[in-house]
Amino acid sequence: MALRGRVTECGKEKTMETLQGKNFQIQWFPGHMTKAKRMMEANLKLVDVVVELLDARIPRSSANPMLQQMIGAKPKIVVLNKIDMADPVLTRSWLEALQEQNFTALEVDCQKGKGLKALQTAIQKAGERVLEKWRKKGVRNRSIRVMIVGIPNVGKSTLINRLIGKNKVAAQNKPGVTRGPQWVMLGKGLELLDTPGVLWPKFDNPETGFCLAVTGAIREEVFDNEIAVEILLERLSAYYPQELSAYYGITLEGADTAESLVEKIGRSRGWLRQGGVVDGARTIQMVLRDFKSGKMGGFTLERPVKVS
Ligand code: G4P
Repeated sequence: MALRGRVTECGKEKTMETLQGKNFQIQWFPGHMTKAKRMMEANLKLVDVVVELLDARIPRSSANPMLQQMIGAKPKIVVLNKIDMADPVLTRSWLEALQEQNFTALEVDCQKGKGLKALQTAIQKAGERVLEKWRKKGVRNRSIRVMIVGIPNVGKSTLINRLIGKNKVAAQNKPGVTRGPQWVMLGKGLELLDTPGVLWPKFDNPETGFCLAVTGAIREEVFDNEIAVEILLERLSAYYPQELSAYYGITLEGADTAESLVEKIGRSRGWLRQGGVVDGARTIQMVLRDFKSGKMGGFTLERPVKVS
């Protein structure tokens, strides 16, 4: 009999299918969701182009489908960030799948600043359509206004800081004026809103919850770390066995369960309690930290659905 999993949202419990037979739960209280949505909608009115930042390790789960409703026909650029922590082959597949769906899709590594030139060019191209409309109304010399949006921890601030760089001084901060969102000139006719739009993570199912949890979009205190790591180890041993085995110096066998993997890893790393018993809790925390930091290698947890 299949077990059932629960995601608690707004105090209401949703019952849903379990993940890999495990009862994965997240206590999720999207406290400021309504406020975030209102702020996002107000700021969206001010911009011409929206850049939606996704986590390349979980492009499906790090997207919020409500964004599309909020932006309507405004041009959107989908950007896969943290590619240094993702599987390059799957990053390519995701980009192709997104492009097949007629999205402008790019990859970046905001930490190292890779892919930013291509992003600026794509923004300019997307904004050209909007500028053309303004020109027809007789408005010239107008910059393209752009805003970065995404779920928490996806790298919005890092991207903004990277784009602003030396242009920081150009921020128009007029004395005596209450500080609201500020525009920063990026050059070449681009203006960036200095505050990102924070999208709330969307929990439609435990799979999304799991992906958000192990990549760091959700605080560790609100989900069951042990079950999350067990699910993660089962996936990594299925999809990335060589990398997992090499990173922890363990031998994988067909009969491995999540528990036996924790045992092997803990023993290999020397996380032992008195009597030589593996300290499961410490091992689990270490695996979670290793995965989140990308130390284990480039892993992607979601595969695109082929459109054609
Ligand atoms: P947010 O505004 O969307 O909430 O995210 P933020 O920029 O604060 O980034 C969240 C974390 O992700 C930061 O790490 C940041 O350095 C990291 N990050 C952003 N882009 C990339 C990337 O392309 N690759 C990698 N590997 N990491 C990236 P942190 O540990 O929370 O902070 P810090 O140690 O960098 O200060």
